Amino acid sequence: MSLSIIILAAGQGTRMYSDKPKVLHQLAGKSLLEHVHHTASMLETRGIHVVYGYGGDQLIEDLSHLAVDWVEQNEQLGTGHAVKQALPNIPDKDLVLVLYGDVPLITVDTLNELVRAAEASVTGESKFSLLTSFVDDPGGYGRIIRNDVEEVIRIVEEKDATNDEKKICEINTGMMVVNGKALKQWVEKLESDNAQNEYYLTDVIDMAVKEGLKINTVQPHSVVEIRGVNDRAQLSELERYYQLIQAHQLMRRGVTIMDPVRFDLRGELEIDSDCSFDINVILEGRLKIGRGVHIGANCIIKDSVIDDDVEILPNSVIDNAVIGKSCRIGPFARIRPESVLNENVHVGNFVEIKKSIIGNRSKINHLSYIGDSEIGIETNIGAGTITCNYDGAKKHKTIIGDNVFIGSDVQFVAPVSVSSGATIAAGTTITKDVAENELAISRTPQKSVPDWRRPKK
Ligand code: UD1
Ligand code: CA
Repeated sequence: MSLSIIILAAGQGTRMYSDKPKVLHQLAGKSLLEHVHHTASMLETRGIHVVYGYGGDQLIEDLSHLAVDWVEQNEQLGTGHAVKQALPNIPDKDLVLVLYGDVPLITVDTLNELVRAAEASVTGESKFSLLTSFVDDPGGYGRIIRNDVEEVIRIVEEKDATNDEKKICEINTGMMVVNGKALKQWVEKLESDNAQNEYYLTDVIDMAVKEGLKINTVQPHSVVEIRGVNDRAQLSELERYYQLIQAHQLMRRGVTIMDPVRFDLRGELEIDSDCSFDINVILEGRLKIGRGVHIGANCIIKDSVIDDDVEILPNSVIDNAVIGKSCRIGPFARIRPESVLNENVHVGNFVEIKKSIIGNRSKINHLSYIGDSEIGIETNIGAGTITCNYDGAKKHKTIIGDNVFIGSDVQFVAPVSVSSGATIAAGTTITKDVAENELAISRTPQKSVPDWRRPKK
């Protein structure tokens, strides 16, 4: 039997106080809806249908890469009404799994159990399973009402509950599996004569039970799996929980993390053994890190490949770069997109590198800007060297060969090239190409004025 999945995501999320639809808010660098979609797509499914409403254009634009059927719910008339919008696109014979776009940490294991529980609850043609949870503070949730023999008979919403019912600690998570044909019949019959004047999806439970159905219940492995995001405080709680889980997974795989509470991975990390992260390291996007890599405190690394034995000293920022074996970077270095550092390159403090290739064993140790450049092997770039790559309209290249020695405070007015073995004297402004093994020097001669008297205040 095939599985179709409906993700409810039409709610505005008033308590976020945001122009953005709630499900677009990010957890660990990925929107809430993408988390749910990612988990849903790990199940064997015929299709994923997302019911959207508030901020629909932005939602579909931002998440156009997701392979889903977008279903519009014009007015948010309740969860039952929301599910109804998606059902015409779902075959009768499918099982239907209902998920919430703002409950991001549900796991595939729990959902698999929920699907199996539905498959096991056969009454005629109908199947039904419900994900419930026992919580200390059930406030706000729908409560599960069971009969004398502990069978689920209905769900009562907080706002419709009696004081006795409010004391029940088994709550409805909202996630359920129902077979398509029955669900279609039941949602047609929903009415909104309740405290919120909404079409409650939960009312189908009562209808199912009246038709003689037995509803199987399943509980999640952890209560965080069913926690929704309604405000930014809840979002940050789930973020910290998720980060801690990721940090522990990495530590179990042989990564040293100085303080797992001060570690953030907002993306996908592939990493080899014996690496270590000091405090406040932030990793974003897609990253590949080799073995024996040490990353110092307060580094931010995004969408990059870092080879074995690289050392990144504190307060460095690396974005979209490839860092070769045994490079040493920082402290306070900035490597910008499309930069490639080959093996054993040293980049020191207050050095910015953009869209440049740096050859093996070359050094740029202090206070430099290297942009749109190609630098050969074993070249030494002195302190304060600047490539003047921009003429106000276009970017130009600086090409520097192997074994070039560049003194301090040199400017390269690009486009310009320096051949291998050349020496550039300190303070030189290079405006013409330099040939192999040449010395280039451009300085105004030093003047001396003896017995100079400084002006007095
Ligand atoms: C719902 C359940 C409640 C359960 C709780 C779990 C119903 C009637 N109640 O209550 O039993 O304990 O979830 O969190 O189902 N949505 C739409 N369109 C709508 C209304 C809601 O897409 O018209 C979406 C929301 O974006 C959200 C989800 O459905 O993702 C749940 O809606 P919400 O308003 O949070 O439901 P609750 O009233 O909290
Ligand atoms: Ca809710």
